[in-house]
Amino acid sequence: MTSHIQSPVVQCIAVSKYFGGVKALDGVTLSLSAGEVLALVGDNGAGKSTLVRILTGFYQPDHGELWFGDERVEQLSPRQARELGVETVHQHLLLCDNLDAAANVLLGQEPTRRRLGPLKFIDHRRARTEASRRLSEVGAAIGDLSAPVRQLSGGQRQAIAIARAMAASPRLVMFDEPTAALGTRQTEATLRLIRGVADRGVAALLISHNLDDVFAVADRIVALRQGRLVLDQPAAQANRETVVAAMAGLLAEPSAP
Ligand SMILES: Nc1ncnc2c1ncn2[C@@H]1O[C@H](COP(=O)(O)OP(=O)(O)OP(=O)(O)O)[C@@H](O)[C@H]1O
Ligand SMILES: [Mg+2]
Repeated sequence: MTSHIQSPVVQCIAVSKYFGGVKALDGVTLSLSAGEVLALVGDNGAGKSTLVRILTGFYQPDHGELWFGDERVEQLSPRQARELGVETVHQHLLLCDNLDAAANVLLGQEPTRRRLGPLKFIDHRRARTEASRRLSEVGAAIGDLSAPVRQLSGGQRQAIAIARAMAASPRLVMFDEPTAALGTRQTEATLRLIRGVADRGVAALLISHNLDDVFAVADRIVALRQGRLVLDQPAAQANRETVVAAMAGLLAEPSAP
């Protein structure tokens, strides 16, 4: 499963981020590789979402370096992050509830039929074909693409968000608690889609509080505790006890690389 993992596509080197007196991230060094599912775990407030926001350009680190491939990027902006191929899928999905599934997959890229002056008309039939193609590319199918997305299940909504993220040809897709609101079957389906994202040569970062999910899909497990990286292990060598102990601060921290 891990044979196609390549060199790092994104690296954080000694990244720190402070909010007033709170060290949200404290010298975190982490690399993300193409083809790899990296699970990021840690208790509430450990710094997981802060790391995601730094990699999406929403927060600037106070110290440290960000590398995309062999390019060091200073002052990463949200726009530049997207241009560099960083996509995110959140627990609370930013889908447009009043639009149908196809429109949400294609958001802003719907095929148009003809123009009348400044007006464009969406070609709904072609839009559904294209949306269905993109969904099947990520291994998902949704029966009725013309249904408003508010009628879809949580798992189907995740599939739409993943298909949309993959349409941007990303190098890194980050999932922040994607299964938190899902039942068992939908969780399994979503984890399969996340595996599929990595299998297409993308670095996948999964934040989860659920260690079953983590062990089901991760190639590597990284734990944060109070902003510090306290565990970085291949999933095959890790076990629940070690991960829980790391999150609780009961392990000696790994020495600096
Ligand atoms: N914008 C902000 N302003 C002030 N403090 C912040 C801000 N964002 C995060 N923090 C603080 O930084 C620390 C890390 O928060 P972060 O949201 O990254 O944790 P998390 O690991 O994602 O937690 P959770 O599992 O609860 O989502 C916390 O102490 C939090 O209160
Ligand atoms: Mg968080």
